[in-house]
Amino acid sequence: MLSNAKKILNDAKKGKYAVGQYNINNLEWAKAVLEVSQEKKAPVILGTSEGAVKYMGGFNAIVGMVEGLMKDLKITVPVVLHLDHGQSVENCKKAMDAGYKSVMFDGSELEINENVKRTQEVVNYANKHNASVEAEVGTVGGTEDGIVGGINYASLEECERITTTGITMLAASLGSVHGHYQGTPKLGFKEMSKYAKATNLPLVLHGGSGIPNDQIKKAIGCGEAKINVNTEIQEAFAKGIRKYIEEKLDQKGTGYDPRKIIGTYAYKYMKETVSEKIKLFGTANKA
Ligand code: 13P
Repeated sequence: MLSNAKKILNDAKKGKYAVGQYNINNLEWAKAVLEVSQEKKAPVILGTSEGAVKYMGGFNAIVGMVEGLMKDLKITVPVVLHLDHGQSVENCKKAMDAGYKSVMFDGSELEINENVKRTQEVVNYANKHNASVEAEVGTVGGTEDGIVGGINYASLEECERITTTGITMLAASLGSVHGHYQGTPKLGFKEMSKYAKATNLPLVLHGGSGIPNDQIKKAIGCGEAKINVNTEIQEAFAKGIRKYIEEKLDQKGTGYDPRKIIGTYAYKYMKETVSEKIKLFGTANKA
């Protein structure tokens, strides 16, 4: 059964570790993340951007796939299926109608009063569905699935205003970037600690790929309890496919079988990447 993110994130905040949100793009992605989370006894969040939802067929298809995998693979660790960067109240509601127990409403581009108003609407709906809600203030830099943002640090006032809606977790943007960083990331650690204390909420770090390990550990110490990772898993997948093709394995025997193309290196590399993150975030044995 799918869980919401409330307990696992409050536990993470208290225990000073973080739960990874690993963005998924297809069945192999979901299976790899679930398998490694079960092996490591780590609670896990599967993230789906709106673009990925469209790609995989829709909210119902994803709920069916993830619930089916959990049953068949005997997954017993808490699994949260989460809508990443929901762009409208309507899409957040659709996700919950299909069975998602966690959504992000991304009103970061809106004026704060409008962001608060729409986030409140999502929280009210989520409360009826036993679901958790993530909100965003400030903006994450870089590009993800066509959503382009400049780095815009969240203010304490915005964090306090959005907290009144009853959200579960807060993405307060403090210098992180989706995708690759140009130069060294400049994360606002002082603000992190201040906002985590002022809001009493687990904070969410978007743009988890490419941040040096020591900065990730520092961010967790400052209150980041959910860390989103997408690009590094996509790169692991691409690296595996490239190796397979470069070794011309697709041209040997039945090497053209998609289960071999994906299952030989790409699957292994995705699992290794997630496994490293579980270790770095301190999520192993926390299920
Ligand atoms: P990266 O692609 O930088 O890992 O960011 C993922 C993310 O923040 C998803 O919301």
